[in-house]
Amino acid sequence: MSLLRLENVDKSYGDEEVLRDVSFEMQRQDVEVIVGPSGSGKSTLLRCVNRLTEVDDGKIHLDGTEIHDIDENDLRRRIGMVFQDFNLFSHLTARGNVTLGLRQVLGMSKEEARSVADDHLDQVGLADQADSYPAELSGGQKQRVGIARALAMDPELILFDEPTSSLDPELIGEVLEVMRDLAEGGTTMLCVTHEMDFARSVATRITFLDEGRILERGPPEQLFEDAEHERTRQFLGRLAGLER
Ligand SMILES: Nc1ncnc2c1ncn2[C@@H]1O[C@H](COP(=O)(O)OP(=O)(O)OP(=O)(O)O)[C@@H](O)[C@H]1O
Ligand SMILES: [Mg+2]
Repeated sequence: MSLLRLENVDKSYGDEEVLRDVSFEMQRQDVEVIVGPSGSGKSTLLRCVNRLTEVDDGKIHLDGTEIHDIDENDLRRRIGMVFQDFNLFSHLTARGNVTLGLRQVLGMSKEEARSVADDHLDQVGLADQADSYPAELSGGQKQRVGIARALAMDPELILFDEPTSSLDPELIGEVLEVMRDLAEGGTTMLCVTHEMDFARSVATRITFLDEGRILERGPPEQLFEDAEHERTRQFLGRLAGLER
């Protein structure tokens, strides 16, 4: 059974149709990369998947259960999210940011949460920074805390919304490296990113979203070497041209 299945999802804001008839499936351990112009609905798509926003029509299933039938707390635990701007609490240390959900959502004891948090901070290369506050961390370190926080909940799927696009160029690599490790370790990931080297080497499939529709979707080789639509070729070509 697919881990995630979207069936004919529509979403509008007012008169604006932001997602139109979006359907796709992901299997466990897949890495799906979503690309598309600004305003094409990428963030909205992720927000529909974890029910930060409701779809107007169509269905979304997680492991065979419609997400409406999953308790919201449960859904938030089963689907992790990594944001462009980190969304860390500035008054909490790196460890505090990671333990918060473990304590509040999973009800772990302080000691247990601390141990789980430290394991995941170690996993993203931040064992030495557990006691640092976000203001004391670089952007790349902050984003790795964000990833550790998502991982700590042991989710079935992690959503990434442009996790490197607010980082200075020299800090992007360390975050992509962590994401690459996760992918190799079998974490199921749905990533909005325009990092084309990452997409080409890690993605199971790339989806090109254009004006709220899936214009084209396929394995990286197909989209990069043999795209069906001129628009896909132009878009990917432009992104590849921007690569450092
Ligand atoms: N909460 C909202 N209320 C009204 N309109 C919204 C809302 N969220 C998004 N939109 C509109 O929906 C469209 C798609 O937005 P979305 O953020 O999903 O695009 P995106 O592909 O993620 O763009 P970007 O690359 O700039 O992040 C945009 O026109 C946006 O203005
Ligand atoms: Mg967006």
